[in-house]
Amino acid sequence: MMKKTGHAIAAAAIALALGAPPAVAEEVPAELVQEARGLAKTFFTRLKGALQEAIAEKGPAGAIGVCGAVAPGIGTQVSEESGWAVGRTALRVRNPRNAPSPRERAVLIRFREALKAGADPKTLEWAGIVEEGGQRYLHYMKAIPTGQICLVCHGKSIDPEVREAIAARYPADAATGFEAGELRGAFTFIRPLD
Ligand code: HEC
Repeated sequence: MMKKTGHAIAAAAIALALGAPPAVAEEVPAELVQEARGLAKTFFTRLKGALQEAIAEKGPAGAIGVCGAVAPGIGTQVSEESGWAVGRTALRVRNPRNAPSPRERAVLIRFREALKAGADPKTLEWAGIVEEGGQRYLHYMKAIPTGQICLVCHGKSIDPEVREAIAARYPADAATGFEAGELRGAFTFIRPLD
């Protein structure tokens, strides 16, 4: 369904307010969701590559800067290439700048519940049409599961040197204690419609 009707938008907005399930609503333009999926894949592939390279080269403490500085850099790159606003968020964040908006928080909670209920983390996504300041936007989110490599900096037993390097930069860090397979966070993509 390509043409947007007021009714369809209202339905999307209502689903959102009630806490839409982590699935793409029908009313959302399919080609844009497809585009956002591609961007999420690009972001994740580049980030994981940069992380693995940095850990191999500098060790995990030296690689803190990758998730810290390179991730936003890759986000900016993907954003400039695509025209979408790109970010990462989570229920427990390391950098307070990544804290979720109320809508993102609601979607993250849905993702977490779906994972607990046995959903495949790779399939968890959500899309909705939202309106802010008279402008309509497409908002797409894709779950980021915690992988083995992530535990080095987000797990339960973090090397003291890594722990110190994190504490020095992120005094308010709340993004440790994760287990493999748990929800780590989500990529978030927004672009104006019309
Ligand atoms: C070398 C240490 C390191 C590794 C390994 C690492 N991270 Fe991070 N992660 C960080 C740091 C540092 C930040 C804070 C980034 C910032 O300042 O925006 C962060 C932030 C994040 C965020 C943004 C939300 C927040 O907490 O601020 C997500 C999502 C995330 N990491 C996911 C992952 C995933 C998934 C993996 C595994 C593929 C991973 N990280 C591996 C260090 C790491």
